[in-house]
Amino acid sequence: MKHIIVMATLLITIVGCASNSPVAFLRGSDITASDQAPDQKEYSESIPGVGSPELIQRTFVGQPPLIPHAVAKYEHITIDENVCVNCHITDEFKGVKMPKMGASHFSAVAKQADGMPDVNMVRWQCNSCHVVQADAKPLIENTFIGHTAK
Ligand code: HEC
Ligand code: HEC
Repeated sequence: MKHIIVMATLLITIVGCASNSPVAFLRGSDITASDQAPDQKEYSESIPGVGSPELIQRTFVGQPPLIPHAVAKYEHITIDENVCVNCHITDEFKGVKMPKMGASHFSAVAKQADGMPDVNMVRWQCNSCHVVQADAKPLIENTFIGHTAK
């Protein structure tokens, strides 16, 4: 009796699977096909402070603002080298207006040579939160609507 039940279950499963429509893959090709190279994306090439690229509107409160300028030359961040900081530690650098990092980015104890607060090392790896933008089409439709004051 036990055997009959097992056989019947197996048969129902096989028939059930066969009648299903083929699986639709999100990437658009069969699982056995090799991956296609992704499209080359064009990242922002605007030089910071030149031609004043507009700041990108934030979509939710607490969002790390998106980077509106090119970063290829600044992304090599080491323990003692961080070009992002050179500009963003102040609101004016070599006569050009800069968006200065907020108070959240500064240390309560560490000081710069001139006695002003230094960057909090918790914020040192800028590109773990702030990202540069490419003109890329979303892979799937997104209906998210952001709400911010700025
Ligand atoms: C040469 C100076 C300079 C350097 C280096 C630089 N930035 Fe900027 N950054 C600017 C200026 C100026 C702006 C204002 C918009 C513009 O002109 O591009 C800006 C805008 C931004 C913004 C937008 C702020 C907002 O409120 O919307 C972020 C975030 C940012 N930069 C992050 C970075 C990060 C991260 C790096 C390093 C990978 C970096 N920047 C390197 C000068 C600089
Ligand atoms: C842990 C995530 C995180 C890291 C790391 C980080 N930021 Fe931010 N950043 C934020 C968030 C969130 C905001 C918006 C709220 C705020 O000011 O705290 C912000 C705001 C900013 C702003 C705009 C300030 C304003 O008042 O409009 C600048 C410029 C900026 N960050 C630059 C940097 C730079 C340069 C670094 C690296 C030294 C860095 N950030 C590292 C999360 C981060």
